[in-house]
Amino acid sequence: MSILITGNMGYVGPAVVRQLRKSHPNELLIGFDTGFFASALTTSLYFPECQLNAQLFGDVRKIPENVFDGVTAVVHLAAISNDPMGKAFESVTKDINHEAGIDIADKAKRAGVKSFVFASSCSVYGFAEDGARAENSELNPLTAYARSKVDTETDLRPLADKNFKVTCLRFATACGMSPRLRLDLVLNDFVAGAIAVKKINILSDGSPWRPLINIKDMARAIDWAIGRSPASGGDFLIVNAGSDEWNYQVKQLAAAVQRQMPSVEVSINPDAQPDKRSYRVDFSLFRQLAPKHQPVHSLDVTVRELRSGLEAIGFSDPNFRESRLIRLKMLNALKASGSVTDDLYWRSIPA
Ligand SMILES: NC(=O)c1ccc[n+]([C@@H]2O[C@H](COP(=O)([O-])OP(=O)(O)OC[C@H]3O[C@@H](n4cnc5c(N)ncnc54)[C@H](O)[C@@H]3O)[C@@H](O)[C@H]2O)c1
Repeated sequence: MSILITGNMGYVGPAVVRQLRKSHPNELLIGFDTGFFASALTTSLYFPECQLNAQLFGDVRKIPENVFDGVTAVVHLAAISNDPMGKAFESVTKDINHEAGIDIADKAKRAGVKSFVFASSCSVYGFAEDGARAENSELNPLTAYARSKVDTETDLRPLADKNFKVTCLRFATACGMSPRLRLDLVLNDFVAGAIAVKKINILSDGSPWRPLINIKDMARAIDWAIGRSPASGGDFLIVNAGSDEWNYQVKQLAAAVQRQMPSVEVSINPDAQPDKRSYRVDFSLFRQLAPKHQPVHSLDVTVRELRSGLEAIGFSDPNFRESRLIRLKMLNALKASGSVTDDLYWRSIPA
């Protein structure tokens, strides 16, 4: 078995590599990434790509066919990975997330890959407060990012067959410590604020619902999806990946951080425009299909892990929302420095 992981050099990727290295100690693990955030490491001792057999560098929009030679499973993480970036780079988001995603699946299938796992998102449900959304609920993608996930799921469906199993995992919002931590995710932002300025600044009135999942539990869900039998979900499966217990309101997340750091002040914005992203999600299908791969990391454990991870690297940046740990800021910095073109291709470096 040989597993190709696209987008492995981001936030979630290192957790996936670590999980797959543990459960497939003797298999070939190959990464494929363009490296936008490669330098944004948030660990002092550990280079996550060391656990791979090979790291390939390239753009998923131009991925060579021969990358798939001998590959049995693909985990497709590479993406422009949130709403603000999707807004700033709208057509690029469509090209990278949707068009390239389908091209990769197409090439993978032709090369004989057996299992394709796509990192989709619960943001496809958009604003959905009136009851938890299940996989067959109406979709309401409100952003370019969410639309790219819906379009990819739609075009993956006809590619699936008995020789090419496709699993779309609609992940809850990620959280937890990573060797490439992002601080543009709600719980990570709260812990960073608590450490750096002793303040959690909630941008909304705190009422929006947001299901969460620890990245280590995302990695375990991916591990399950790679090896699942078609008897468990069929050749093509869309499943919400998370747990019902992790359907929190944003203010509850802030309270969980405050419980561990009682001196921290929490401020809400009572005049905020209603948050367009508010949804509760029904994870019962995932519970039924993957009983041994259910999320095991609790909110309290995740807050503790973020806190100790940030303290271990001496994190103290009060302006972290402007820093390179925010994915959009990093892309803008790459663009402003001339390192990448407007459509996010690396420029060649003069000799
Ligand atoms: N983080 C979350 O809350 C969350 C939730 C649900 C789903 N997801 C999905 O999980 C996946 C991973 O998320 P993440 O948080 O690690 O994102 P990330 O932004 O940290 O990592 C994405 C990776 O994709 C790579 N990439 C982007 N464009 C590329 C291109 N054109 N060619 C090659 N590589 C490219 C980047 O260099 C980066 O290493 C994404 O598909 C994301 O949409 C994430």
